[in-house]
Amino acid sequence: MKVRLRIALISCEIAKRGETMSKHRVLVVGNGGREHALAWKLAQSPELERLFVAPGNAGTAMWNVPISAEDIAGLVEFACREKIDLTVVGPEDPLSLGIVDAFLEAGLRIFGPTQAAAQLEGSKSFAKLIMERAKIPTAKWQVFEDSEQAKKFIHTIGAPCVLKADGLAAGKGVIVAMDKETALQAVDEIMEGSNFGLAGKKLLVEEFLEGQEVSLLCFSDGATALPMVPVQDHKRALEGDMGLNTGGLGTYSPPPIWTPELENTVMRELVNPTLQVMQERGTPFIGVLFLGLMLTKQGPKLLEYNVRFGDPETQVVMKRLESDLLPILWACTEESLSEIQLNWKEEVAVCVVMAAQGYPSAYTKGVPIRLPVERDLDAVIFHAGTGISEGQLVSTGGRVLGITAGGRTLQEAREKAYVLVDQIDFPKAHFRRDIGLKGLPE
Ligand code: AMP
Ligand code: GLY
Repeated sequence: MKVRLRIALISCEIAKRGETMSKHRVLVVGNGGREHALAWKLAQSPELERLFVAPGNAGTAMWNVPISAEDIAGLVEFACREKIDLTVVGPEDPLSLGIVDAFLEAGLRIFGPTQAAAQLEGSKSFAKLIMERAKIPTAKWQVFEDSEQAKKFIHTIGAPCVLKADGLAAGKGVIVAMDKETALQAVDEIMEGSNFGLAGKKLLVEEFLEGQEVSLLCFSDGATALPMVPVQDHKRALEGDMGLNTGGLGTYSPPPIWTPELENTVMRELVNPTLQVMQERGTPFIGVLFLGLMLTKQGPKLLEYNVRFGDPETQVVMKRLESDLLPILWACTEESLSEIQLNWKEEVAVCVVMAAQGYPSAYTKGVPIRLPVERDLDAVIFHAGTGISEGQLVSTGGRVLGITAGGRTLQEAREKAYVLVDQIDFPKAHFRRDIGLKGLPE
């Protein structure tokens, strides 16, 4: 509410520059690897006049402005002052805080869902209700606000089962319990522990689904959705998909398990019905609708919605996108996506995330990093948790770099990515050597 009041006072006089000019001033909000990948791609657009990233990282230094991604009033003020034609939001937090509503109220063009539509990610129980209304195949579920009731339910369904904090928990609010003991402990951890706060007040208990996971990101203008290339993420901290869940330690695209038939099914039975229900509710979904899919023996089932570009999915998607990104995002804000055709490079792309020692638990910061001067031109180092301290590149976050390479085959892309990883001087970096292995024949 405070944000709204301040914005009303700003009274933004934004001329409708976009309609009369072919070059645009664009602002990317966020500071991760995803935002570096978006900025890298937007910087190649012939339609770009000037780019800004708020607050960005060392990889986006030439475009950075020091405004935090959650400072919505500050971002609105900046966009008005700098006559930004289009703002693109990376992370989920500002979307859930209502950044899109605030920009629209100020008469500014922004790519992303409103606060009401962002609930698809912000509340897992809301997402399940939409799935139910849209008749989307998903795991059976129940929601609890009382831990004793949740435990009683777990005694009746047994293990394996999956427990999820209802609200946003930075990808760490899900526990896959292979036995009843773990499930019962997880109830206390999520509902009674101090790690989840409000996000853990409601708990979802879900049927365990088996299969391969695929991330499908779609551009959406509210009425039309266009799928991007499919991606497989590697969420666990350790090789062989062991260890704790992370935000994602590597991706590759395309996974060989994906087929055009599967894509048709997912668009027809999962994506389009979601858009329709969101439209019927009066909360059309504009932005990136990101489906976390489980490809089960009974067909694709929806694990979750995200309402934004994935990280590190975006790194491989942007690497493979042949088309200019700027007019695509623009079309989403004008409900003219049906006029757009997406072109993709016929390559395989792999992104290996280099993280700080200890990630996803407590990790070290401020580690000096040296990047190689000469390197393969078909590989990109996307920065995430990086900054500059006394002229030196240093780590500032958990996920630090996303080494992204393209090749004619998965094997070639993997080789290129790991050659570059091995040229990077980042003491005690944690990364997985098996990114993309699940896409190769055994
Ligand atoms: P989510 O944040 O809902 O995507 O969950 C994080 C991870 O937990 C997913 O990427 C899956 O690996 C796993 N997961 C979530 N829900 C289920 C489920 N119903 N069955 C099996 N695994 C799941
Ligand atoms: N890589 C998963 C996510 O962005 O949520």
